[in-house]
Amino acid sequence: MIHDPNRVYVFDTTLRDGEQVPGCQLTTPEKIEIARELEALGVDIIEAGFPISSPGDFQSVVEISKAVRNPTVCALTRANKGDIDVAVESLQYAKHPRIHTGIGSSDMHIKHKFNSTREEILVRAVDAVKYAKRFVEDVEFYAEDAGRADIVYLAQMIEAVIAAGATVVNIPDTNGYCLPNQYGDKIKYLKDNVQNIDKAIISVHCHNDLGLATANSIAGLQNGARQVEGTINGIGERAGNTSLEEVVMILKTHPVLGLHTNINARNFYEISNTVATQMRMPVQANKAIVGSNAFAHSSGIHQDGFLKNRENYEIIKPEDVGFPSATIVLTARSGRHALKYHLERLGFNLNKEELGEAYHRFLTLADNKLNISDDDLLLLVRGEKFA
Ligand code: KIV
Ligand code: ZN
Repeated sequence: MIHDPNRVYVFDTTLRDGEQVPGCQLTTPEKIEIARELEALGVDIIEAGFPISSPGDFQSVVEISKAVRNPTVCALTRANKGDIDVAVESLQYAKHPRIHTGIGSSDMHIKHKFNSTREEILVRAVDAVKYAKRFVEDVEFYAEDAGRADIVYLAQMIEAVIAAGATVVNIPDTNGYCLPNQYGDKIKYLKDNVQNIDKAIISVHCHNDLGLATANSIAGLQNGARQVEGTINGIGERAGNTSLEEVVMILKTHPVLGLHTNINARNFYEISNTVATQMRMPVQANKAIVGSNAFAHSSGIHQDGFLKNRENYEIIKPEDVGFPSATIVLTARSGRHALKYHLERLGFNLNKEELGEAYHRFLTLADNKLNISDDDLLLLVRGEKFA
């Protein structure tokens, strides 16, 4: 098979990193439903859980492995044999199994989480990859807190785990700490300085503590990473993970980046709703791509421009992400053009003078009412001389 150098692999961790959010826990049937929708969306890898963490998580990995055929099914472990043994067992039905193992890479984690040394941690990382490799061909290694790790040590660790057989190397900005240029430079440094880097795919895994997860992921891809990890709706603990829908639509909207995925973007709105409902985590109205206001135009200036040519204020067509349609919201900030548009939609073709009068009445109504419905418009028009 010829490897396409511009193809970005999409790794979804909604069911693992996303599901760690308090109150968002899912039952196995709910996870299977999401996994099937992820398969229809076209993700390449589904991280189905952390099997050692609970019997429920173990069972979910087993059932998801049976339920999907195309995506790789991945199970998370820490860098120890016990975790890896359980992950191997949970993946027994997976057509394409992957083990995702790893350990902290920053001095902060090495000293204050593992009470260890760089040398010892390196040995544990290599041993974990070698052990996982006995059971599956596809082993991804994560260097936790790579965002704050010393770059020379990180490069040494990545070179050692690739030599041990890692097929994918994940460089997580676990705490959402990096600036986009810093994160991009980290990926570039690894590309330029890890001798065997061409034997593995570099993966970006960013958190959103400073609101930079999407920007950092894109910076990583621009510098040579070819797998992106994230969740639907950016769900995840604290401020969340990278929103996959944002990354995919950025790559589509900017062909100059020269990168593409296998994602069926028209499925985004549906899966976003499923995840929000199942996880009891509503999507904020102004969320990019899938928020309820993402394609709603409300100020008079924008509405007028949009009605003249939608591309004045629309860089993505709502239908391209499965969104029902763009909306022109009537508020006290709307202009005549927006009112005319809605009245015509309801079958009223007013002349200039009639529209002027209707607009005057409309403004009085809109100053006193937050949402102007079709019924309000009918009353408005019929209430006086159009009755
Ligand atoms: O953020 C992180 O470092 C992780 C790893 C376990 C991959 O989620
Ligand atoms: Zn994470």
